[in-house]
Amino acid sequence: MANYRIAPSILSANFAKLGEEITAVIDSGADFIHFDVMDNHYVPNLTIGPLVCEAIRPLTDAVIDVHLMVEPVDRIIPDFAKAGANIISFHPEASRHIDRTIGLIKEQGCKAGMVFNPATPLNYLDHVLEKLDLVLIMSVNPGFGGQQFIPEALEKLKSVRKRIDETGKNILLEIDGGVKVDNIAEIARAGADTFVAGSAIYGAGRDSDPHRYDSVVAAL
Ligand code: DX5
Ligand code: ZN
Repeated sequence: MANYRIAPSILSANFAKLGEEITAVIDSGADFIHFDVMDNHYVPNLTIGPLVCEAIRPLTDAVIDVHLMVEPVDRIIPDFAKAGANIISFHPEASRHIDRTIGLIKEQGCKAGMVFNPATPLNYLDHVLEKLDLVLIMSVNPGFGGQQFIPEALEKLKSVRKRIDETGKNILLEIDGGVKVDNIAEIARAGADTFVAGSAIYGAGRDSDPHRYDSVVAAL
């Protein structure tokens, strides 16, 4: 259990009381706050940016785990670093120069993650895996919370787990999309150690509920 992290996705939270919703999941024991950034260009939805990251930073010491679904990606990275992001992850399709983007994130003092859509091949890890702090496997197509888990993501997790273990480095393996009480244990067995959960934690009313958080953890 100690090796697992839960990253509630605030995309599913009630934005009218975002601060309270963040404090509630932290009080429940969340390790990360997953922060979904969408630009209505790389993905068909528009969400939150560095100003919101800066506003929530004083609320918690938890890791702010920024998932950038924006294109181009490089120019927004320094803004998120200044706003207090701890981890910044990007989609390789949204970067012209992947190695440069990783370097930029690290130069800004953040940890770097790379994100794989359901149909994005893992060979993007070639040559850069050892420079990454996190690999994020999408188990839905990015853009919206509340979608169904795509089961092919399990095989992908197993492959990445193997590749990470071969490096001997401490690289997190995160899963994002459709993580629920009834599938989280299987996802963990496939090798994930960090679990994004949006609708499973915030529920249909967009309000968090400690029982919902606890049942996700208990299912691990
Ligand atoms: C989707 C986002 C996810 C989303 C997950 O593009 O990256 O982080 O919030 O939501 P659930 O857990 O509801 O699938
Ligand atoms: Zn996400």
